[in-house]
Amino acid sequence: MNKTIEQIKEDALKEIEAASDSKKINDLSVRYLGRKGAVTQFLRTIASLPKEKRAEAGKKANKTKKSLDKAFKEALIQIETRSAAIEDSIDVSLPGRIVNHGSLHPITQITRQICDIFSRLGFAIAEGPEVETDYYNFEALNIPKNHPARDMQDTFYISQNIVLRTHTSPTQPRIMEKQKPPLRIIAPGKVYRCDSDLTHTPMFQQVEGLLVDRRVSFGDLKGILTTFIHQIFDDQTSLRFRPSFFPFTEPSAEVDIRCVMCRGKGCRVCSQTGWLEIIGAGMVHPAVFENVGYDTSVFTGFAFGMGIERIAMLKYGIDDIRKYYENDLRFLRQF
Ligand code: DAH
Repeated sequence: MNKTIEQIKEDALKEIEAASDSKKINDLSVRYLGRKGAVTQFLRTIASLPKEKRAEAGKKANKTKKSLDKAFKEALIQIETRSAAIEDSIDVSLPGRIVNHGSLHPITQITRQICDIFSRLGFAIAEGPEVETDYYNFEALNIPKNHPARDMQDTFYISQNIVLRTHTSPTQPRIMEKQKPPLRIIAPGKVYRCDSDLTHTPMFQQVEGLLVDRRVSFGDLKGILTTFIHQIFDDQTSLRFRPSFFPFTEPSAEVDIRCVMCRGKGCRVCSQTGWLEIIGAGMVHPAVFENVGYDTSVFTGFAFGMGIERIAMLKYGIDDIRKYYENDLRFLRQF
């Protein structure tokens, strides 16, 4: 016996319900609505019905065809969204994956601390090139060619007139050429010297400081550096200024701090002296001002320079500077 259109629909809906993947749905769709499908076959039989029944049967069959077509489409969408959800789903019971995030290098951290302290004291941050001319690295700083003061720094020469800067001091004349006084700047950066042992690496980093204004005195230099030392170490750290020589400052001083390891009792770090030398400083030499066209009858200033690794070594209790540049993660992860 031929099935009624209602039976065909009912069967189709049951099979759709039971189908678990999109291939089965597509096959079913062919079996019911395809050219030889059950619904199509049924439509063909309508022609042989008595005239008065045809319209009614045709209407019903077409309605069924439409609703089954819709059912197939919906079933496909449902199956697809269900499988996408399974693929995307997160198993919250699994242990989390450890994210390896980087961190700032200890020298970068100290550089930022130094810059922060001086920024609060009104200093702007400047930069200069690491490949420098002989003029800015030496001559503008009152270190003429063949002057014995050049022996103080083991220079890497690129060519006769180009060097890897041996200190950050060349940023001084560079800034002053561009800017009129008053000015307050610090300039952190890499410097290079042909030297390598427990306390020296061929590349190391310095911070240069320069303040120029009317009536700047050595007392101002002492005040600024004392404030700085108290902030970067602690306010119990005392300082002393020893007379020294730098061609670009007059008078010049070497600044020592009370040994932060032994508090002055004497230990290996301070070679039993109780003091640590950490900053070179002085009043800017008039010859340096003349080289950049500053009026020495109106302006005075002070300058200072310090090694960043040295400060980092003292703060962290590291006795070998080379550790900072070996890129050993076991070392770097501790900061
Ligand atoms: N440039 C000197 C050096 O590397 C350090 C220094 C000393 C910088 C005195 C200064 C200064 O600005 O006034 O040895």
